[in-house]
Amino acid sequence: MTPVRIGILGFGTVGSGTWNVLAENSEEIARRTGRPLEVIKVAVKNPDKPRDISGGDVSFTDDPYAVVDCPDVDIVLELIGGTEPVREYVQRALTNGKHVVTANKELLATHGNELFRTAEQAGRVIAYEASVCGGIPIIKALREGLAANRIESLVGVINGTSNYILSGMKENQCSFAEMLGKAQQLGYAEADPTFDVEGIDALHKLNILASIAFGIPLQRCTDVYCGGIGAISVEDIAFATELGYCIKPLAVAKRSEHGVEMRVHPSLISEQRLLAKVNGVMNAVSVTGNAVGRMLYYGAGAGAQPTASAVIADLVDVVRTLDCDSVARVPHLAFQPDALAQVPLLPIEQTKSANYLRIQAINQAGVLAEITRILGEHEISIESILQHGSEQHEEILPVVIVTQETMEENMQTALKELEELDTVIGKGNRIRIESLD
Ligand code: NDP
Ligand code: HSE
Repeated sequence: MTPVRIGILGFGTVGSGTWNVLAENSEEIARRTGRPLEVIKVAVKNPDKPRDISGGDVSFTDDPYAVVDCPDVDIVLELIGGTEPVREYVQRALTNGKHVVTANKELLATHGNELFRTAEQAGRVIAYEASVCGGIPIIKALREGLAANRIESLVGVINGTSNYILSGMKENQCSFAEMLGKAQQLGYAEADPTFDVEGIDALHKLNILASIAFGIPLQRCTDVYCGGIGAISVEDIAFATELGYCIKPLAVAKRSEHGVEMRVHPSLISEQRLLAKVNGVMNAVSVTGNAVGRMLYYGAGAGAQPTASAVIADLVDVVRTLDCDSVARVPHLAFQPDALAQVPLLPIEQTKSANYLRIQAINQAGVLAEITRILGEHEISIESILQHGSEQHEEILPVVIVTQETMEENMQTALKELEELDTVIGKGNRIRIESLD
């Protein structure tokens, strides 16, 4: 099978993350696309910089035109950032007949209308899942999954860096500057971090989301209200907490009778709301559609691997359009039919979980010892035991035991033995505890 040939512009946090995930998951990805993917050219600013990359070799150039003009490149990944000269590279790639995948929200928010026109004229695609909310497939959800709806509103935490800063100030009493420094080290922040802290990055993302949610062209960024988190102090965070609120860097887009409202600024939200629990670099978008109601999309909003996940999802989508007919564009079971692999389906006995046990036991001395003996014999460790005394001196009392993670097979045998005890009466209950790691 001939490989699809890829050229990459930019090999920083997102570019190198994409390379590494492509290398690590190459077989799995090829089973989805039906063709291997091969990176043949990479342009960077400084080709001599040492790079932390795995799985194979790649040659670097400092000339982006060597990528976008290369006749062998089928798809260009634009992972440099900023508007100029990147706009020119993307235009050139499209007019040269290449599809483009980009993570660049600034470029799309400011020049998207013009670039999408160029792409349509060239019969090529600009795919941009990674431009909004890192690894969350929010673009796909709005463009495809929610296509039946009239979208009424979007409210979200859509900048990872500013959420990471406010979360660290609240949870660890860190300073603003300390948290921003950490976000930069972790590769979350934009090349110019004022974009993150002043709300500009969220504004770019909101512009894209509002456009695809409401069916409107991308708006002039200067027309959208935008405020940052720079003025939020540790004291504000403490007072908000005392009042039952959390301060979040929020982006809001709503339809109203008179038009569309779009704004970015920090807001107090009730601690009861799910969005208040979105901490660190995590992002979430609450979308309200008139048919589906309210949905919440949640996941890592920045960083090498989550963003690579979105870049490669777009890449896979584009590759599927290259040589598939429209019916088979996305295989029914996601992988190519001849790439489906049979794997053993594990019986429940081979699974592990912690457990909540409610055992209805006779209220007499020595019962607990019998129960714990049986659990011990089956290598079941106890996390905690609860038994409330009763003023009525009932004959049967519930003993509640929380076990540590246990092999299902052992649990089942122990439960049978417990049921056979003379001191255990009637139906108790066993509920598995899911750790959700
Ligand atoms: P980085 O600053 O880490 O990387 C930028 C890359 O572009 C570097 O490899 C740099 O080269 C290269 N570069 C810069 N200027 C040029 C040029 N003129 N010609 C060729 N190469 C150039 O940025 P990120 O990876 O963080 O971000 C890339 C894009 O992804 C941006 O649009 C950003 O907004 C977006 N994004 C970032 C996320 C993140 O978590 N970081 C998440 C989602 C989107 P060199 O290595 O030699 O310096
Ligand atoms: N700087 C951005 C953020 C990267 O922190 O959200 C992801 O778009």
